[in-house]
Amino acid sequence: MKATNSSNLKIIEISAQETQDLRHRVMWPNKSKKYVELENDAKGIHFGLSKDSRLISVVSLFITKDGTQFRKLATEISEQGSGYGTLLLNHLMAVITNKKIKRLWCNARADKTSFYERFGMRSTSKTFAKGGIDYIIMEKIFKSNP
Ligand SMILES: CC(C)(COP(=O)(O)OP(=O)(O)OC[C@H]1O[C@@H](n2cnc3c(N)ncnc32)[C@H](O)[C@@H]1OP(=O)(O)O)[C@@H](O)C(=O)NCCC(=O)NCCS
Repeated sequence: MKATNSSNLKIIEISAQETQDLRHRVMWPNKSKKYVELENDAKGIHFGLSKDSRLISVVSLFITKDGTQFRKLATEISEQGSGYGTLLLNHLMAVITNKKIKRLWCNARADKTSFYERFGMRSTSKTFAKGGIDYIIMEKIFKSNP
């Protein structure tokens, strides 16, 4: 069953600290816990999707004068493919629309670009590699926002 059919799901704002465990286990299990902490975590807005009060998907949003970026989208491995990441990203897109932000960007793992394209993110020509993973910078322009 896809997540959208369940009623015990909640998307809430959480602390940076609450994102750490999922970030670490799902994205960088072979690195130290410290590795998944971001220098500007304290300034981010962190969203978590919980199912039966258990956190299973997280994403972090950073709004700075240089732009608006989301980072560290991660869904519990055993829960992937059930629509939770989609619910969280759709929520994020609604937040961006409400905040009248014009441009959203992210560093996408190269093997995830087609997932992000579903949400209107488009690949730019900027690429880089970090920790053995290739990244493509993706962006979305919110045309309805001034
Ligand atoms: C990427 C990630 C966040 C997606 O979360 P999720 O909760 O599994 O996503 P959903 O269940 O909402 O969506 C899964 C859908 O995307 C598709 N999908 C999953 N990974 C994909 C990929 N790499 N490329 C293209 N499509 C992908 C699935 O086939 C599925 O399609 P369906 O809806 O037609 O069945 C999750 O796989 C994850 O945490 N991966 C490890 C961490 C990571 O790579 N984060 C992103 C860093 S850029």
